[in-house]
Amino acid sequence: MCGISAYIGHREAYPIVINGLKRLEYRGYDSAGVMVYNNGTMYVSKTKGKVSDLEEIVGQDEERKKGTIGMGHTRWATHGVPNDVNSHPHLSKSGNLVIVHNGIIENYDTIKKELISRGYSFKSDTDTEVLLNLIEEVKVTEGCKLGKAVQLALTNVVGAYAITVFDKTNPDEIIVARLGSPIAIGVGKDKKEFFVASDASPFVEYTKQAIYLEDEEMAIIKLGKQVKVHKINDDSIVEPTIQKLQMSLDQIEKGGYDHFMLKEIHEQPKAITDTFRGRMLADKNMIKMSSVDLNLDKFLNANRIIIVACGTSWHAGLVAEYLFEDMARIPVEVEYASEFRYRNPIITEKDVVIAISQSGETADTLAAIKLAKSKGAFVYGVCNVVGSSIARETHSGAYTHAGPEIGVASTKAFTTQITVLTLIALKLGKANGSLSDQAFKDYIQKMNRIPKQVEELLKIDDHVKSIAAVYKDAKNCLYLGRGFNFPVALEGALKLKEISYIHAEGYPAAEMKHGPIALIDENMPIFVIATNKGHYEKVVSNIQEIKSRAGKIIAIVTVGDTQVKEIADHTIEIPDTQEALTPLLTTIPFQLLSYHIAVMLNKNVDQPRNLAKSVTVE
Ligand code: F6R
Repeated sequence: MCGISAYIGHREAYPIVINGLKRLEYRGYDSAGVMVYNNGTMYVSKTKGKVSDLEEIVGQDEERKKGTIGMGHTRWATHGVPNDVNSHPHLSKSGNLVIVHNGIIENYDTIKKELISRGYSFKSDTDTEVLLNLIEEVKVTEGCKLGKAVQLALTNVVGAYAITVFDKTNPDEIIVARLGSPIAIGVGKDKKEFFVASDASPFVEYTKQAIYLEDEEMAIIKLGKQVKVHKINDDSIVEPTIQKLQMSLDQIEKGGYDHFMLKEIHEQPKAITDTFRGRMLADKNMIKMSSVDLNLDKFLNANRIIIVACGTSWHAGLVAEYLFEDMARIPVEVEYASEFRYRNPIITEKDVVIAISQSGETADTLAAIKLAKSKGAFVYGVCNVVGSSIARETHSGAYTHAGPEIGVASTKAFTTQITVLTLIALKLGKANGSLSDQAFKDYIQKMNRIPKQVEELLKIDDHVKSIAAVYKDAKNCLYLGRGFNFPVALEGALKLKEISYIHAEGYPAAEMKHGPIALIDENMPIFVIATNKGHYEKVVSNIQEIKSRAGKIIAIVTVGDTQVKEIADHTIEIPDTQEALTPLLTTIPFQLLSYHIAVMLNKNVDQPRNLAKSVTVE
């Protein structure tokens, strides 16, 4: 939530900060702002709207763009409606200090009242302006430098933050700090320039050297000097680890596609192959995952596996429930991280907790991990973003290696999460004897074909587009699936809702007659997963029930199907595979369908309203 981009060095800061904000816009896009410092003056420009609106406002006003120090912000509103005044950066009362902030200061109201009693007044409704003036008050009363004032102020703050602060009276340094929201520092050649950002994407073309601050750490960045990192709550110095970035520029650009979402849908064959890399040894009939091997006893002796996640990652967790129970016969519970953390759950040392998160920064998932750890459970993470908070907080884990996912609606993150979880379930099933050697071998062979099958499946794009054209004006849709494909129905409905704003619900197909059937009429499109294994006959009966109530049926079937084709209004064929592996295929048509409907409705596919890619507030 919210993106921060800042620069201090020898180049013009404005274009670097603005381009950085564009790359971070997936984190929030209801307002944007920039500050450029030049020769004793801070030029702040900000507006409700997107970074492109900000650029328009700044326009050709060269004075507002000139300077080699700058910071910018793209906002996802928490306190105060999105408007020009509430946009960041914010200035302090004296006008000397400036801040951009990602997170929430929970006790801002108390601090605000205290500051008002000391003569402060506020222009915005934000918690951020309160925090900055607290820093200023500390700086004045203690007579200290900015770094110390930030540190002292933060010890009085409850909440979450990633902040970047600058003092125009001491313009060769920038202060950054974090608690609960990510922040990375890019270190330029010979320390002649530094970059600050919510993730490394804004500076990847300038430097591959990055420092990721840990929670409760702050850094003083001074031109020509080593970045000085220390703990916020005491003065202990932390030796910063400089990481080499693996990310490349073309990974974070659209590469000829109209939208990141479409690019990411089409990247899935490669993303799944990358997830397999070094793990899926099909010729040796083996799955190698050191993070599982090293902790095999914990997994095999677990009373149960508890999966915690949010949104799409929670859907991947639901698929995993079917996978682990079916392949490895280990009981699984899947929990919304937000519920789990607040309901005093029973967790013991014999439980294994798996946390799933694309961003690795989701606040609720992070809190669930901390809770599980405090009760002695072994916590394993499945994350996409390398070095993210969740990846660091868990005892062990596996990266999905999907590459950067920029479209706010998750696509390749979902299929690669399922891929990792399937590999783990297969490994455990083999290790505890739940899967025979032959069954394991069959799975490996079928699994190994999935990237090619996804590639084939993506050729149905035009067919799906023609179906999208028929149903784009629907007001309500139902998604039905059973067994392994019930979570895919939930995910299909979520994808449609979040980018086209059409109301959609996912249900286990058999549940339809317990309520949702009342909704069915000739205007209701119903998307049904009816692949040829598992509960095919039962799903066919469900389809008949819908048909006799005049509902419109769009069915995902296995190639060669004849029975459903006779009843359904439209069918989409997927290649044949094991039932447990079908979610990796059935998901694809739903992603394409949502994408095309949203494009046809002229919606902002990559940045749907009210959403943000990385939810670092609870
Ligand atoms: C939906 C979507 C969200 C995320 C959820 C969790 O397309 O992207 O529902 O899945 O916010 O995010 P992560 O996986 O980053 O923890």
